[in-house]
Amino acid sequence: MPEQHSALSTEATMTQQKMPLNQQQLRPNLTFYDLYPPTTDMLAEVSQSLSAASPSLHPKYFYDETGSALFDRITRTPEYYPTRTETELLTGYAEEIRARLGRPQAIAEPGAGSCEKVRLLLDAWQPHHYMPLEISRECLLDASQQLAGDFPGVHISAVCADYCQTMAMPQALAQSGQVVFFPGSTIGNFEPSARANFLKGLRKLAGPGGALLIGADLQKADTQLNAAYNDAEGFTAAFNLNALHHLNRELDCQFDTDNMRHVAFYNREQQRIEMHLECLSDQHIQLGERSLTLNSGTRIHTENSYKFTATSFSAELVAAGFTPLNCWTDPQNLFSLHLAQA
Ligand code: AVJ
Repeated sequence: MPEQHSALSTEATMTQQKMPLNQQQLRPNLTFYDLYPPTTDMLAEVSQSLSAASPSLHPKYFYDETGSALFDRITRTPEYYPTRTETELLTGYAEEIRARLGRPQAIAEPGAGSCEKVRLLLDAWQPHHYMPLEISRECLLDASQQLAGDFPGVHISAVCADYCQTMAMPQALAQSGQVVFFPGSTIGNFEPSARANFLKGLRKLAGPGGALLIGADLQKADTQLNAAYNDAEGFTAAFNLNALHHLNRELDCQFDTDNMRHVAFYNREQQRIEMHLECLSDQHIQLGERSLTLNSGTRIHTENSYKFTATSFSAELVAAGFTPLNCWTDPQNLFSLHLAQA
């Protein structure tokens, strides 16, 4: 249990029903809804994916504390253009987007994490409500308390939930006409069929009269894509390898990370960046009671990051039932920001 929030977390554990946490410990403009996302069996999940014919790891294993810090570092490398380009688009077009939507008063953000990007919209739009959805209770509490202090005029309904599992509960808390914000091209991490379902879920979450504001990374020259996932300072390599440090720590599986190599490349046929970890020696790993050997040369597939065209992504929005309103791109056509009516 996190030290700095032990009192709040104890409250959360004691609150068996789906009720707000003890208000007096939270900022007055913050309500915390704990939907108790089911904890996953990491050992079972990792054992299954690593022992498959094509070994893989879910990209969520990148994001322990070190991994989140490394990702933040990646976003500031000269090669990794998506974050800074999206921020430029959001800054430059916040007012236009707001006008286009008729001054929206509520924003919902699935997988809000540290709630950093939404600050831009809260500044520009000054809405009445913000609803971050986040699976990590600690991260959500921290970020929403901070945000509530910085934006006293915004009521924050923080929802601890796994947005991939269920969009139904947060719907009950939805504000009418809310804008669902899904930045960062996180949508690119979903496989095509899962992506189609997820977009339908986002439309449900937005509700009638609602809208979606979503970032999607664009297809471009292989050299530029490859560079973005192989930065010269090695932060992406460290980020990829950190998934194994994370597993070693949590499951004591004894990966020899000095003999694992970061591999990332654009697969043009599949329109995605692939990230892998390649074994440079036989890896004898321990998964609970089970031993597993990954032979030298084996690659563990750790991430897909799909790339789109403005047109192909709009078509996916339409297929999910949205009506596209506009798409903004930067002059170099690196990244796209899509606005669609739910
Ligand atoms: C956070 C999933 C959008 O795919 O570009 C960055 C993750 N992986 N560098 C991406 C990532 C390697 C990032 N997303």
